Amino acid sequence: MRRWIPYVVIAIIIIAAWFIIAPPRIWLNMTKSVEPTAQMGEQLVAEYGCRGCHRIGGEGAIKATDLTGITQRVADPALVPLRLWLQNPKGVKPNTAMPNFHLSDSEIDAILAYLVQADAAAAN
Ligand code: HEC
Repeated sequence: MRRWIPYVVIAIIIIAAWFIIAPPRIWLNMTKSVEPTAQMGEQLVAEYGCRGCHRIGGEGAIKATDLTGITQRVADPALVPLRLWLQNPKGVKPNTAMPNFHLSDSEIDAILAYLVQADAAAAN
């Protein structure tokens, strides 16, 4: 009687672990949908603590690359290399120290809009 219960519990634990460790992109896009504006990007950069490692527009640590000018150094108007990087840094460079923040597509759009704006301001 009810011998199936442990199997259901194990299945739920496995699915929960999957969503926590490697949440699928469709789930991220459903749960972390934001306005893809530069202003939102600025807020996300603060929330996720990007400046804990990166300098952006003269502010922040230099434990990693200075991101000032990054959107201009990437010779691609669609910024595909940066998108791939932000989706999954270890997918691009397995031994990188940059954590995967499990960003949704709209969060990535917002962060890139902020970086583009910061770079345009720096170039003037
Ligand atoms: C724990 C430190 C750390 C944090 C926090 C961090 N990064 Fe990084 N990031 C790195 C390191 C280290 C690299 C350099 C990649 C390498 O060569 O391993 C990098 C590389 C990058 C690159 C590629 C730069 C290039 O020259 O190609 C981008 C873009 C980037 N990070 C954006 C971000 C954003 C946006 C955030 C916040 C959401 C963030 N990073 C948070 C450590 C960090």
